Amino acid sequence: EKGGHDYFMLKEIQEQPQGVADTLIGHFAHGKIVLDEQRLHDQELREVDKVFVVACGSSYHAGLLAKYAIEHWTRLPVEVELASEFRYRDPVLDRSTLVVAISQSGETADTLEAVRHAKEQKARVLAICNTNGAQIPRESDAVLYTRTGPEIGVASTKAFLAQITANFLVGLALAQARGTKYPDEVAREFAELESMPKRVAQVLESADRVREIARQFAHVPTVLFLGRHVGYPVALEGALKLKELAYMHAEGFAAGELKHGPIALIEDGLPVFVVMPSPKGRAVLHSKLLSNIREIQARGARTIVIAEEGDDTVRPFADHLIEIPSAPTLYQPLLSTVPLQIFAAEVAQARGYDVDKPRNLAKSVTVE
Ligand code: BG6
Repeated sequence: EKGGHDYFMLKEIQEQPQGVADTLIGHFAHGKIVLDEQRLHDQELREVDKVFVVACGSSYHAGLLAKYAIEHWTRLPVEVELASEFRYRDPVLDRSTLVVAISQSGETADTLEAVRHAKEQKARVLAICNTNGAQIPRESDAVLYTRTGPEIGVASTKAFLAQITANFLVGLALAQARGTKYPDEVAREFAELESMPKRVAQVLESADRVREIARQFAHVPTVLFLGRHVGYPVALEGALKLKELAYMHAEGFAAGELKHGPIALIEDGLPVFVVMPSPKGRAVLHSKLLSNIREIQARGARTIVIAEEGDDTVRPFADHLIEIPSAPTLYQPLLSTVPLQIFAAEVAQARGYDVDKPRNLAKSVTVE
């Protein structure tokens, strides 16, 4: 059942190219993005003046990534919030608010209660869910299914990549309905998305190398993760995977915050992952990150750098370099997250832990 792998999660990590591809199937027809299972009409999408994304755990990190794409493509303000915090603080919602609830299981109580609160306030709710007919999609106005198959590993991997993909579809559908992107631009973005699975598969080819790096760090007390822009939620997700699976202290930071506090943590030998943006994207992002790596390396950190292949500028500062294929900035998380998942799983295995069933965690938490 585990497809010859030591644990389900490794199989699920390998299934990610398929999960991304399947989540896209049928969502582009006659030159337009189509959100099936949609009970939200174009007119309603046009009336949206604000978006909230609510979710928990890895789904929340997928939500953080949604913000970059939706704001960029639609010029709508997007707030991303932990579902467990959302309804207790009286968020400003009305019928022109779109609430996107992301949940792999579709049964998470915190997210379900956030959906109920949003509906009481007359907001429109769109669920992104991996489980047909679950409670959250049942109570939402519309649902967009991630089609990555059941996820067995308690820590989310393939659902996360599929959720990111679904978020892009929501962003493109909004941009299309609102006319903030021309039809040919939407078509081009979709084509780019369709080409991502083969790049995810390329990242998987370097799994053995990542596992080898992981074994070297299997017994350190702390690992830090740094990223900027879309690399920041990726850093948070990398840290979460390591906490969940390897019970290791791990923290993700926005690289720009380093100098405002976390740099005090840097000491000799501390492993720090750095998610480098594409050098072909905004040059300023890339150069800022480069100077962050320099700073931490000068203070003795052991740097593990995830960078686009051919980005030679990082080589002098990377104690370990993990190369990923080139991708547009917004889509890079579909690639850069994968080595972090493999790293966490391998560290957990090296420590003798059950990768599929980490202690104290449940696959879906149906109590608030
Ligand atoms: C946690 C799971 O309890 O819930 C995480 O252990 C998951 O893996 C989180 O990311 C949210 O779950 P869901 O099903 O709402 O996406």
